[in-house]
Amino acid sequence: MQKIVVAGGGVLGTQIGLMCAYTGYDVTFWLRSEGSIGRTMPKIQRYSGLMLEDLAKAKALVGTPMGGYLYPKGLIRDWKSATVESIDALIVQAKTRFAENVHIELDMAKAVADADIVIESMSEDPQAKIGVYTALKDLLPEKTLLFTNSSTMLPSTFAPYTGRPGKYCAVHFANTIWKNNTAEIMGHAGTDPQVFRAAVAFADSINMIPLEVLKEQPGYILNSMLVPFLSAAQALWANGVADVPTIDKTWELATGAPAGPFKILDIVGLETAYNINQMKPDAETEGSLTNRLGKLLKEKIDKGETGVNAGVGFYDYRK
Ligand SMILES: NC(=O)c1ccc[n+]([C@@H]2O[C@H](COP(=O)([O-])OP(=O)(O)OC[C@H]3O[C@@H](n4cnc5c(N)ncnc54)[C@H](O)[C@@H]3O)[C@@H](O)[C@H]2O)c1
Repeated sequence: MQKIVVAGGGVLGTQIGLMCAYTGYDVTFWLRSEGSIGRTMPKIQRYSGLMLEDLAKAKALVGTPMGGYLYPKGLIRDWKSATVESIDALIVQAKTRFAENVHIELDMAKAVADADIVIESMSEDPQAKIGVYTALKDLLPEKTLLFTNSSTMLPSTFAPYTGRPGKYCAVHFANTIWKNNTAEIMGHAGTDPQVFRAAVAFADSINMIPLEVLKEQPGYILNSMLVPFLSAAQALWANGVADVPTIDKTWELATGAPAGPFKILDIVGLETAYNINQMKPDAETEGSLTNRLGKLLKEKIDKGETGVNAGVGFYDYRK
């Protein structure tokens, strides 16, 4: 069985690891401390539970006209031939794989000793990422491919720290990957084309739709569109132009989209939104829009209102 190591057990790291376990890989989460285990375990429980729930719900969609749109695309590879029985079999298999294929390890050397692929999905903080790449450099076996899930940073920024630039590229997932099953594959100039192809094949093997990004682009394809959209919505809020529900309602009613920008931000997580905001050049400029928005987001984060995962974000999900 091929071994995958996920560095970082946050919102996306947990989902990526579970998706790999679901599709039959042996998965180890490398975490930095006992405290991280306490934060990652509930996420593993939550996301594996949601994946099983969505499989169960998919049974009612079999044979319905909307089924082909609504089924969890990362969990059921071939919807056309899916039956209630085949979905039941997937549920049984998923429970076994979540129980047997998922491991947590604090010792980085042990975690990566026989890794085929390491996926870095740590906080969007360049120094934290560089620190981990530098530590990994001398521990990774020759064969290991190294992928980053960074949403906003380029692989060429980190390639020099990896000790294996040819075997390094970005494989970028979208949140709730078992339903929104895209994987944007983006190399840097030094990525070996065979490694790029291997990344595409790996993404396909974990039921993602690989989307090939042909040159380095900050934000890939998705975030080149999504980040300006979410920034525009947050600017309306920070400038007091409209309140959060009104902004969401406007978008939902006018475009038919199922979720407005603040519902999307709650899924993304406010820490990620904050980190992206703080990377802008005027983040520390007192009175600038970026600075005011940073303060508003920080206020919510300090209250623990970080999004769907926390039960409260821009909306209250505890009811
Ligand atoms: N949240 C999203 O919607 C989303 C979507 C696609 C990609 N991403 C990318 O995925 C990555 C992770 O994002 P997330 O939303 O899961 O973040 P998160 O805040 O939920 O999780 C970050 C994880 O990194 C760990 N971490 C931070 N610093 C570390 C260090 N120095 N050493 C070891 N571990 C450390 C934290 O303990 C945590 O487990 C980021 O690069 C982000 O850009 C996020």
